[in-house]
Amino acid sequence: MKPKTSFIKEKLKNIKENNLYRTLVYNKVAGPYITINGRKHINLSSNDYLGLGFKPVVSQIQSSSRLIAGNDISFKKLENVLAHHKSKEAALVFPTGYMANLGIIPALAQKNDLIVSDELNHASIIDACRLSPAKKTIYEHNNITDLEKKLKNKAKHKFVITEGIFSMNGDFAKLDDIAKICRENNAFLLLDDAHGDFVVGRDGKGSADQFRVTKNVDVYISSLSKALGAFGGYIAANKEIIELAINTSRSFIYTSALPGFLADLALKRIQTNREKNRLGLWEKTRLFTSGLKSIGYNIESQSHIIPIITKDEKKTLEFAKYLRENRIFAHPIRYPTVSQGEARIRISITDWLTKDMILQSLDTLEKAGKKFQVI
Ligand SMILES: Cc1ncc(COP(=O)(O)O)c(C=O)c1O
Repeated sequence: MKPKTSFIKEKLKNIKENNLYRTLVYNKVAGPYITINGRKHINLSSNDYLGLGFKPVVSQIQSSSRLIAGNDISFKKLENVLAHHKSKEAALVFPTGYMANLGIIPALAQKNDLIVSDELNHASIIDACRLSPAKKTIYEHNNITDLEKKLKNKAKHKFVITEGIFSMNGDFAKLDDIAKICRENNAFLLLDDAHGDFVVGRDGKGSADQFRVTKNVDVYISSLSKALGAFGGYIAANKEIIELAINTSRSFIYTSALPGFLADLALKRIQTNREKNRLGLWEKTRLFTSGLKSIGYNIESQSHIIPIITKDEKKTLEFAKYLRENRIFAHPIRYPTVSQGEARIRISITDWLTKDMILQSLDTLEKAGKKFQVI
């Protein structure tokens, strides 16, 4: 008889054979650098876009659900500021952005309803949709004609969900067209702007502000752990939706609250003037993108998230290894984060990077691109 654990070994073997095996690499991040096994690398894989994340905090932990004893007074101020930031009546902080999606999508979309989701939406959106009893349908990435077609449905309520800046492609959702289609079809628009929030739009108000469609977004979902360099997630919407989330979002009710000191930290970060960091980020993004293009890379990204599409999983791993050997850390992204055969090196620009670091990175990326025949 086979040992009862043999299926686990089989599964791991299969993952390895397909070059999809992941290991945990211990590191220390300090500003723009990441140290791995005692070696310092330029960090091209951080989501701390505005370079705000490396500041010490004083810790103090409380552990209870917000509906029990975990509702630190800090949440009140933070949620008021977040609601104002998104021009909404109210906001609600969750322990993470992942949990914010998990909480709000099934709270809204019920039986006999329809969720229409972009094919490249983040795993947290996909998992949230799975938790809802509504019918789900996927529209082709950013394809407005397909979205419109999928919305021709007699569902009781319709919910369209998209990211603002797509986390693995760095392109913007066509929010002006999406907002129009939602309006015409009486559909709710849910916008996960984890990568655009605090980064784009006037005063960092996010992707919807960039497209001037803030009034058309019914629910914002976002993370405090990316451009804000803090931790946590939140939703912003009208008062009734927030009330519904407090009462029915399982990932809000049945879990411990974010520690109050993290809410304080997020509040402090929001109240910091981030204009200089945003301008710095865009200047560095322009420099990096034009540098990559001049080397010969085909770059389609419109933002600070710049994928280098390497397609083959094995080649992608070797490409990343070569970068690491040359003191550049840029993470290889493979299935199931992206489709099979669509592997990539995901570069994210931060305001931490200096001109010298960018030039050094470009130099190594040019050598890597030639070596692996990507350019
Ligand atoms: C689009 C998107 N939504 C949600 C999340 C989850 O955010 P958090 O890291 O706060 O859980 C992420 C994280 O990568 C994301 O890319």
